[in-house]
Amino acid sequence: MILKNNICKKDIFYLIDKYSHAIPRVEAEMLLEYLFNCARIDLYIKDFKVDETIEELYDSLVSRRISGEPVQYITGRAEFMGLDFIVTKDVFIPRPETELLVNMTRDTLNVTQTKNPKILDLCTGSGNIAVSLAKLIQEAEIVATDISEPALKIAEKNAVRHNLSDRIKFYKGNIFNALIFAKNPKFDIIICNPPYIKEDELPYLQKEVKVEPEIALNGGGDGLDFYRIIAKESHRYLKKFGSILLEIGFGQKKDVENIFSSYNIFEIYKVIKDFSGIERAMWINLL
Ligand SMILES: C[S@@+](CC[C@H](N)C(=O)[O-])C[C@H]1O[C@@H](n2cnc3c(N)ncnc32)[C@H](O)[C@@H]1O
Repeated sequence: MILKNNICKKDIFYLIDKYSHAIPRVEAEMLLEYLFNCARIDLYIKDFKVDETIEELYDSLVSRRISGEPVQYITGRAEFMGLDFIVTKDVFIPRPETELLVNMTRDTLNVTQTKNPKILDLCTGSGNIAVSLAKLIQEAEIVATDISEPALKIAEKNAVRHNLSDRIKFYKGNIFNALIFAKNPKFDIIICNPPYIKEDELPYLQKEVKVEPEIALNGGGDGLDFYRIIAKESHRYLKKFGSILLEIGFGQKKDVENIFSSYNIFEIYKVIKDFSGIERAMWINLL
């Protein structure tokens, strides 16, 4: 039995369990990984010293978490596609469902048999999509853009961290305007996880989401602003028979399909559901 009065030595399991009523175990582990600067597995196989100072530090991390700060902003790290990414309050925290877009990119390249693909990651944020694609598709040339200078700085750091800075070019600007200085901006695939929350829903988001940059969330009055712009402009930046891969929000499938169908130059090829059964990733081809 572990006693709190130091009669018995406290160990890491005492800390893992200490706030089990308040935070999920996985988050307790993430905070302890950060505190001990170790891998998660080390928590279970190494014998870390848990003294009063460590316990106090852990308590303060947990209290930040309980007050609504996402664990990824506390630790400065987020996992995406099995890779470790630097995140700060300047960037949107990569979500597991966005991995669908990365996997869809690989499917697209298999179907179209494209060699040496040129891929544009619009609204790159922390660079999680661009970096994962560069890692997974060795022969891909990748361009990543964002309107936020601080976000792009983090994305560039993530490219450096994964030794991929020579494979990804970053440009700052408003959606496609960012490509004004890009050389030959014609792509086989445009991939984008845009801001897609309706403006009037922003005040009602979970407190953890509200601390993310508003610019990463706000999709305009009906949440569809970015899809309209991509539908209108993308043909100028896509190669013939190129593909657009989009993340979409809950209940947006019909509206996004209608936006693209109204141009008569696109085929809605596939929509994939996420782990919760929500239609989440849309694959559109330019005809
Ligand atoms: C939902 S986040 C996606 C981040 C990342 N791609 C991901 O999937 O986790 C949307 C991103 O769009 C960027 N953004 C917002 N408005 C933009 C605009 N007008 N032009 C380009 N990027 C924009 C934000 O800075 C943010 O990084």
